[in-house]
Amino acid sequence: MSSKNLFDLSGRVAVVTGGNGGIGRGMALGLAQAGASVAVVARNEQKNRRVVNELQQLGVPAIAVEADLAQREQLPAIFQQVEKKLGPVDILVNNAGIIVLGGVLELSPEDWDRVFETNLNACFLLSKLAARSMVQRGGGKIINIASELALFGSARVPSYSASKGALVQLTKSMAIELAKSNIQVNAIAPGFIDTDMVAPIKEMPLYEDVIKRTPAGRFGTPEECAGTAIYLASHASDFVTGATIYLDGGFAVQL
Ligand SMILES: NC(=O)c1ccc[n+]([C@@H]2O[C@H](COP(=O)([O-])OP(=O)(O)OC[C@H]3O[C@@H](n4cnc5c(N)ncnc54)[C@H](OP(=O)(O)O)[C@@H]3O)[C@@H](O)[C@H]2O)c1
Repeated sequence: MSSKNLFDLSGRVAVVTGGNGGIGRGMALGLAQAGASVAVVARNEQKNRRVVNELQQLGVPAIAVEADLAQREQLPAIFQQVEKKLGPVDILVNNAGIIVLGGVLELSPEDWDRVFETNLNACFLLSKLAARSMVQRGGGKIINIASELALFGSARVPSYSASKGALVQLTKSMAIELAKSNIQVNAIAPGFIDTDMVAPIKEMPLYEDVIKRTPAGRFGTPEECAGTAIYLASHASDFVTGATIYLDGGFAVQL
């Protein structure tokens, strides 16, 4: 296979949760550029529509499924819609995530649950739906978007850090279970990427600390997340499973 074909996603169907903005949009556009049909799953109808237009302009079939991933009962219908409109799912990117500020002393149990429902439980439940179909069809790719806070603790966002740490462990366990079914399960752990989620940091003194601590000396961009997603979605990564790739300008390797 030529190196160009290794990364070719023509004819594959990808689902990107949280694909209507930020990192998810960057990855959705990248997968579409590599030839995949793409379904974005998120709540905001207007943002969904805007991204579907961008995806369709790249010449691939694309749809949006409006759904709240924190509502478990909505999840099976997401797959039914995608399968009906685009075909069976070959690539699942569990990207949607939220962050709720608050240390253990002030965080409410409801906020803790909300973070876990979106950042972890939805990834488990969607992976289960996708993997069942992938097993029957002989393979597939699951990509979980963790965070470098999977590696580090945080007094500001313990719920987020714990949910992402668990997502990395879930990635490894699913990778082992599904390897024999030719399903590769990997995680991407972004560092600071310039999206709405981290926009408030740019106004804080913390911003200068982050820039100083990042060997690359800057935030990453959503567009820079596309390449790793294409790699993990394509034949180029067929013998890679259970891995976590840090996409962070070197942040995690510097003391
Ligand atoms: N930006 C960073 O520096 C950074 C660093 C490490 C990890 N990450 C991770 O990367 C992923 C994307 O982050 P981002 O920075 O791109 O965030 P973002 O700009 O805030 O985008 C989050 C996306 O998730 C969707 N979403 C959130 N809750 C949802 C729900 N309940 N149901 C359906 N969709 C939901 C949002 O769409 P709607 O609001 O329309 O639903 C949006 O598309 C997250 O998992 C985040 O934890 C980000």
